[in-house]
Amino acid sequence: MNVNGKHFRTIWLGDDRKVVQIIDQRQLPHKFTIEKLRTVEDVAIAIKDMHVRGAGLIGATAGYGMYLAALRAPQKGFDLYLLKAGTMLKETRPTAVNLTAAVNRQLKAISNGRDVKEKRRIALATADRIADEDANFCRRIGEHGVKLIERISRHKKGKTVNVLTHCNAGWLAFVDYGSALAPVYAAHDKGIRVHVWVDETRPRNQGASLTAWELGMHRVPHTIIADNTGGHLMQHGMVDIVITGADRVTRNGDAANKIGTYLKAVAAKDNDIPFYIALPSSTFDFAIADGVREIQIEERNQNEVRYISGLYKGKNVSVLLTPNGSRAKNFAFDVTPARLITGLITERGVCKASRDDIRRLFR
Ligand code: MRU
Repeated sequence: MNVNGKHFRTIWLGDDRKVVQIIDQRQLPHKFTIEKLRTVEDVAIAIKDMHVRGAGLIGATAGYGMYLAALRAPQKGFDLYLLKAGTMLKETRPTAVNLTAAVNRQLKAISNGRDVKEKRRIALATADRIADEDANFCRRIGEHGVKLIERISRHKKGKTVNVLTHCNAGWLAFVDYGSALAPVYAAHDKGIRVHVWVDETRPRNQGASLTAWELGMHRVPHTIIADNTGGHLMQHGMVDIVITGADRVTRNGDAANKIGTYLKAVAAKDNDIPFYIALPSSTFDFAIADGVREIQIEERNQNEVRYISGLYKGKNVSVLLTPNGSRAKNFAFDVTPARLITGLITERGVCKASRDDIRRLFR
């Protein structure tokens, strides 16, 4: 997608193919900074501390992390080194399934190499494939999802379609295009009038800082709202459709996404507003069925709730928001049960959030 008119992906290799480059998302929206990752340890820190974030991008970054590990791994003990690197990466963030899937895919692919040279070549090719696949899947999510927006637009006789989204499931959360925002970009590019309500998404404010930034870069009309505003907008006919992303979706269609998504789904159901989850197939976890019981929810540092950061006199600063002695809890995700989800927008098409429909599409 475009940053000031120039096309960027969120992750790419340097010219020597030995350094991984990322956009440091902690600096957005005020600063566009490119960071170089040289070791798998750099990659682990970048994922854990959220220089990169979002399910698809975490997976792609882990893929390149395994490639960097393969470059450094000694001839003797190569496989063990990679296994340890994979374990370290998997422990960085637990909820997005793309991370574990990318590491396991790399380990399996690399094990087919006959010698270290070939294993390194395979690691690079697999990392590139994971990233390209992610971009390609998201582009196709846009193609399928845009039909939903088009239908609403026709129904409203061309009046603006109001989409509500939570957190950031745009191109910054993937390699390119995004999941929840891919249909929005496709609609905007087709000349359909579309406007996005952007939940600020406390505590880390990925909506206010990242979603708003990337929509602005693409000139898509949008308005940032406090997280608790959605229900009110829905009651007053100001939301036509809710589209969010997901970090892990079970084979029954339960979806883990940024904390607060569940409440939006409840409000959408109460107001008869379609609630869609957009995801590439890499976000399915077919091994589990019951999301509420089986998906591990990441708990992050309480200071992300207690402090808030922003721009002050040209510098990014963090300030204490709460009474100094008050403790906080910081669950990063929640699970929306399939019964509250109107449908899933995937690279293979749109289906119901039900075991049978998902199985039909992803046989
Ligand atoms: O904690 P994050 O920023 O990595 O959370 C991921 C998200 O941005 C959202 O949950 C998103 O909607 C799904 S990731 C495509």
